[in-house]
This record gives sequence, structure tokens and C-alpha cells, in this order.
Amino acid sequence: MSAETTFRTSQLEHNDGPGQNPTDNRTMGEIIASRFSRRGFLKGSLAVSAIAATVSPVALMLADEARAASGSAFSFDEVEAGVDDKHHVAAGYDADVLLRWGDPLFADSPDFDPLNQSAAAQARQFGYNNDYVGYIPLDGSSEHGLLLVNHEYTNPHLMFAGIVAVVEKDGKKKLDQKALTKDQVDVEMAAHGGSIVEIRKQDGKWQVVRDGVLNRRITVGTEMKLTGPVAGNDRVRTSADASGTKVIGTVNNCAGGVTPWGTYIMAEENFHGYFSGDLPEGHREAANYKRLGVPEGSYEWATHYDRFDLAKEPNEPNRFGWIVEVDVNDPNSVPKKRTTLGRFKHEGAESIVAKDGRVVFYLGDDERFDYVYKFVTAGTYNADDRAANLDLLDDGTLYVARFAEDGTVDWLALTHGQGPLTAANGFDSQADVLIETRRAADLLGATKMDRPEDIQPNGTNGKVYVMLTNNTKRKAEQVDAANPRAENAFGHIIEIAEDAGDFAAARGMWEVLLKCGDPSVADVGASFSTATTANGWFGMPDNCAVDSEGRLWVSTDGNSPSGTGRTDGLWAVDTEGDARATSKLFFRVPVGAEMCGPLFTPDDRTAFVAVQHPGDGGDDWEGFGRPSYYEDPSTRWPDFQPNMPVRPAVVVITRQGGGKIAS
Ligand code: FEO
Ligand code: CA
Ligand code: CA
Repeated sequence: MSAETTFRTSQLEHNDGPGQNPTDNRTMGEIIASRFSRRGFLKGSLAVSAIAATVSPVALMLADEARAASGSAFSFDEVEAGVDDKHHVAAGYDADVLLRWGDPLFADSPDFDPLNQSAAAQARQFGYNNDYVGYIPLDGSSEHGLLLVNHEYTNPHLMFAGIVAVVEKDGKKKLDQKALTKDQVDVEMAAHGGSIVEIRKQDGKWQVVRDGVLNRRITVGTEMKLTGPVAGNDRVRTSADASGTKVIGTVNNCAGGVTPWGTYIMAEENFHGYFSGDLPEGHREAANYKRLGVPEGSYEWATHYDRFDLAKEPNEPNRFGWIVEVDVNDPNSVPKKRTTLGRFKHEGAESIVAKDGRVVFYLGDDERFDYVYKFVTAGTYNADDRAANLDLLDDGTLYVARFAEDGTVDWLALTHGQGPLTAANGFDSQADVLIETRRAADLLGATKMDRPEDIQPNGTNGKVYVMLTNNTKRKAEQVDAANPRAENAFGHIIEIAEDAGDFAAARGMWEVLLKCGDPSVADVGASFSTATTANGWFGMPDNCAVDSEGRLWVSTDGNSPSGTGRTDGLWAVDTEGDARATSKLFFRVPVGAEMCGPLFTPDDRTAFVAVQHPGDGGDDWEGFGRPSYYEDPSTRWPDFQPNMPVRPAVVVITRQGGGKIAS
């Protein structure tokens, strides 16, 4: 592998590429007006047309951002933002490493031996690059439950010894990576997927129950079933599966969710990166794959497995990009790929029960200029009969969001036969609509967003929070009300209030909660409250959680020494009252990592956070300043032993002396 193609698995997750959306869905010409959040809009006493004619956009933005605030409602002592090789939590809290890459999960699991790692060992150990973290209480307990962890992707240069060399290129030190062996590819495949692990708090400390009867590893080798309208369709049949229902494995499981009935949702995000090769000339999937960036070829799996080679298995990519549901109560259950929820680069799927008992899932398609979705089940949730809910996800309606500058959001149904979703446009059935969800959403005129990531419904205040990471490719003429900054390097957060507090509603109102970035730099146009300190602002919101009192916690992906002068972390963000849009830093990750999770136990006394890809990068870190790789990582977190590589890990945070994380 050449230097140009080195570390592509990292870049797949972090690049700021152009996006795949070729449509010209509205970018709205009313540029000046749309620079305001709805909140700013309503506050203004001048007519927008008059403003636009007389005042510069920058002056207007500044007027909009001057949001005085009382102090944060969170009382913890803020962490100092910065960069080093360790994690940091607010004073008075413990942040203990709970599960690291390679940790044994079963009674028979071999100990982690990084220089002799095998696929068989990896399949019995905690996987790589922990992302989503979920918790399902056992017997209703906040001190004993199942931890659910996605393993999104692999970083070979940090996992395997002896595969990179440091080379000079364009006056800079870069890494050149050898081709992986089949054994190494097999380790990668076993390090993907998810872990289901029993954990218990004993004597004030969380422990892994290594012989928990429900412990399970899900990998790229786990058999799954396609369900819903796409199951059995011609477009998902392959030479290995004439039925079009039996898929082997899941990839790039980013965020996810836990359903109200206690199943584990794994979202398949950047699945395009695993495929290589050329489709046969004139193949019907050419446009479909182009819209999704398939094949991207970041991984070398096609060298060893035909199903990842488009020339040999042209339909295989249609079997990825779905929402996966796992019944954790049976460690042998076959995970279901629920095709009703559409096919795109799924970030996550957090859910809530609507007033009438239907269940609503919020879904982000993480690509520049792609869309925000929600899915509403046809049936209703039965709190008294878990089994009655287990196929709720096979019937319902998928919607895509259109955000208007008047502050409304319309949820447009992706239903075959309605509007443009007909045979005239190449959709012969609902299966076609779902396989090409993006194209269907294009035709409905959905709003092109700045990388939709985690979306969290908040049952306490009835709102929904949408993380939009960034989009530096948005040009000034593409700015719209819901994506109010050109070259949006730092992202923003949108707050939705569905009509009449009904999460299943077809319409709602929205406003921008927060435009991220350094508020001391006027050109950035950030909108943190004035009570936010120099440590408290952040860029690149990615994942989020609400605690049991409905308070918002945001974790980030993309802060860096040379970018924002800080690592990623977990910030507590006020959404209510005078403190609204005030943010405080609670936890920060070691250099090179992004912050995933986060999650609170139902009693709010424990927070789980996932430190993903620690030590990835380091070139721009003063004090390290060179490529980071297995033999010479920018940090050896969390073990800090010379014979141990840097390892992604889940960290558990508790308050010293007990009590809720935030009181
Ligand atoms: Fe895997 Fe959208 O972050
Ligand atoms: Ca994410
Ligand atoms: Ca991310």
C-alpha cells in the first residue's frame, strides 16, 4: 500500500470530503435571513428584508449571538481544555477504565497478546474502536446490567506491529503501510461488530462479569437476517445467498440505541469503505452505489474475500447500510437487519414512545449534504409483553426532514407510490425506495444537512437534539436556515419540538440551539452563551445523551491540537432558561481520540464514555509532532506499559463518595 493510501480507515471516518449528494435540493437564496437561528429571527424587531438591505451579515450574526446568560446549571468544576496523552475528568469524580480492546469477555477467552493476536482470540475478546455504548438493566438495576458496545472500525497501524515505515514525503514524515496478511484481515473482521457484556457494581466499582451467560461478540462473521420489504428482493441476492435474506456480518457500527423493549440497535455507517473492485459494465446498481460512494476501498478485505469485490458479488453492498436489531436476551439470536428504517450511512437510532404508543426512531445519515430521518412504527409498544414488540421494526413509515426558514420542519414520508416515488422514477416497490433511500429523499426535496450524527429525543422536555458535526464544503450560496454557516468547520446543534409534543407528528418547529466553535473569534460565529468559559466551548458535536433529568451531554469528534487547541471530550450543555447554550467541559480524552458513548445509567450515578482511536494521529501535537503508530504511538493510554499498544477503551465515571453525576 502506498503512502497515499495509508491510514484510509482513519480517513474514512474523519475526512471532510465532498459528500455524495449530487442534487440541487434547495439551498435557499435568502442568505441573509437564513444566517439567523429562528430564535434570533423572532427576537429581531426589524423586518428581515430591511435588515438584509442595511446591515452586514457579520454584524447581524454578532447581534444574534450576544446571548447573556447566568452561570451553568451544572455545578461540577470544569476540566481545563487542552491536549496530553491522558484522560481527564472533573475534580471529585473517578474515571476508571472498564473494558479495553483485547480484554477477555468469556471464561475461555485468551489473555490479550498483542504480538500474537489471532482472529479466534479476537472473537472472544472486546473489539476495537468502541463507539456506541448502551446499558440494559438486569432486574431493573442501575448497578447490574448488560453493557452494549459497538466496535466501529479498525486502525491497522495501531493494532499490528511491523506494518508501517516512516517515510519523507513533501518534506513531511508520513507512514507507509504494508499490505495486510489474510490473518490480519481476519483479526480486523473479528475486531468489528459489537460486544454484549454483563457488568456489575461491587464495592463501589464496576466490574466485568466474565462468565455472564448473555455475554456475546458480534463480528463480521455473525449470521444475520434481512427482514422487512427488502428481504428476498432480487437486488440483495448473491451467489452465497439465493434467498436474499441471509447476510453474514455487520460493519462500521457507529452509534446505535436501545429500544423501549430492550433490544440493541447497531447502526451501519461507512459501509462503502469495505468494498473494492468494479461493477460489471452496465450493472443496474451503478447509480445507487455512486450516490453512496461504493466502492471506497479503504479496507483490503476484497483481496481475501470475494463478497467485498463488486466484480464478483455486485449485490453484496445492498446488504449493508441498514439498522441492525439484536435480541440480547438470547446470545444465539440471529440479529435482524431491519430494512424498513432505510439504507444509508446510519449514525444511530435513538427512540422514544409517542403519545399513542407508536415508537419513533431518529436517524442521521452522516455525510456532508445528507439528511435527517425518523421512523415511526405502525404498531404500538406493549410494555407488558416484550415478545409482542420484537418485530415492531418490520412495519412502519420512514420520513425525511425538510427544514424551512420559517422555523417549521416537515417530515416527508418515503412511501412507494406517493409523489415521485413511483416506477416512473425507477422505484418499482417499497424495497426499491428503501435500497435507494437517499435518492428517494432527494426527490422529495429534503434539506441537505451538515453531517447529521446522533439525534436524541428528550422525554423530559419533549424536544429532539440533532448533532451536525461540520461541513467545510458548504459554500456561501448553499447556506440555509438550518445550516446557517458557510464552510461550517465546527458544526451546530438543532433543537426540534414536534407538534403538540407528539414525537410521531408529521411536522414540528426547530431552532438552532448552538453554533459551535471558539466564541472569542468573531468570524467563527459561534453562539455559546456568555457564561461559557474558554474551556467550555467545543467544535464538532457527534454523539449525545440526556440524563434522567433531561439534561444534555454532548461528545465530540474532531477537536485537535492544531484545530481547536483541545482534544475531544464530553461537555454538559444547558438547554433551559437563562443558562441555555452554556457549555462546560466534564471529561476529555487523550491525544488522537474521539469521544463516543456517552451514556448514563437510569439512576444517573454512572456515566459510560467510549474513548475511540486514541493515539490516531499526533503529527500536529506539540510535544509529539510525528506520525503515531504501533511501535511509536503518541500515547500508550490506558496501560502506559512499553509492551502494550495504545488501546481504545470504555471508561466508567462515578462521583467520589457516591451520588448522581450531576446534581
Ligand atoms: Fe461514525 Fe458519524 O460517526
Ligand atoms: Ca459518530
Ligand atoms: Ca464520528
